[in-house]
Amino acid sequence: MKTSAIPGFSKLSLEEKIKIIKDFANLNSDDLNLIKKYQELPDFLELENNIGPFKIATNFLVNDKDYFVPMEIEEPSVVAAASRGAKLVRSGGGFNGKYLDSKMIGQLQILDVEDFEESRKNIVKKKSEILEIANANKKIVELGGGAKDLEVREINTEKGKNLILHLIVDTLDAMGANIVNTMLEEITPFVVELTKGKPCLRIISNFADKRIVSVECKVPIQKLGIKNYTGEEVASGILNACALAKADIYRTATHNKGVMNGIDSVALATGNDWRAIEAGVHSYAARNGYLPVTDWWKEGEYLRGKIEIPMAIATIGGATNSKKARLALKILRVKSAKELGILTASVGLANNLAALSVLGTEGIQKGHMKLHKEFIKLSQNQ
Ligand code: MEV
Repeated sequence: MKTSAIPGFSKLSLEEKIKIIKDFANLNSDDLNLIKKYQELPDFLELENNIGPFKIATNFLVNDKDYFVPMEIEEPSVVAAASRGAKLVRSGGGFNGKYLDSKMIGQLQILDVEDFEESRKNIVKKKSEILEIANANKKIVELGGGAKDLEVREINTEKGKNLILHLIVDTLDAMGANIVNTMLEEITPFVVELTKGKPCLRIISNFADKRIVSVECKVPIQKLGIKNYTGEEVASGILNACALAKADIYRTATHNKGVMNGIDSVALATGNDWRAIEAGVHSYAARNGYLPVTDWWKEGEYLRGKIEIPMAIATIGGATNSKKARLALKILRVKSAKELGILTASVGLANNLAALSVLGTEGIQKGHMKLHKEFIKLSQNQ
């Protein structure tokens, strides 16, 4: 059985770590040469599981599969925190995640529409023709993806009423911006004919509320104990932190930033558009007033946690084709963008758990700053 839970992993030598990851992910000599090249760069620091192109978080068990997680981030304590959060969750059986839906939305803005009801009726009547135009000559359709549906919306703007057509596209393993934007441009002339309006924007929406991933976990409360604090005390700190994050935007922003520490690092390592993911998560968090994207609560002997966020992440296309990203995806052994999305959201939840468990008790400065100081010392010695 392959496992990413290796006691004392961060204390091993660089060679020992690479050997474990090589065996875990069946890395070949090209992969090892690429890793070596990054180690030869002048700013390479051997700190917190940094193997060269990225740092590695351990202990992740998600939907019963083990992962070493490549994370690209300057701050080593974020990686240590992810591993610590994952270790706690592992003691409760690991993360369980699923995609609630997996589609992206493209927006076509039509101005100066005279008769909205007539235009809406025309669009609905010609829906299959519009989808046919969008799907024409698209390889993704053969694979089961492509434009699946559309919605017509009426939006009052400060410059008058707009007709907004949403094209709903299953982008499978791609992030989707390219394909969605192309489809929108291709359907525009026909939609203009149907509405007799004037086309304006044709662009993907990063509010990806049809590409939601949901991950849950549970941790035995007694396992949460740290140094001078019992598990119950740590759990109580976490619950108070969540309560404040729900009540005060000054805290919500920081709570969600801690979640994004993990998510952005995986997105960067795998060549994904982390700004799109950030935009998606924060807009989703703000859909009913800005709220935390995770929640923790007590249930019997356990502290349970949940994250629900849009996850427009890809395993094909764009910068995911770079050598470094291919290596990260190989180490992850992910088979699809859905699997990567569930894993990435789990990393965000792990980082959140690790942060809240110390914030409400001993504070972050001890652990966080210890690594940070080491990082500064090593970089100054270069
Ligand atoms: C720091 O990068 C992240 C934290 O501020 C997150 C949080 O406060 O929950 C520690």
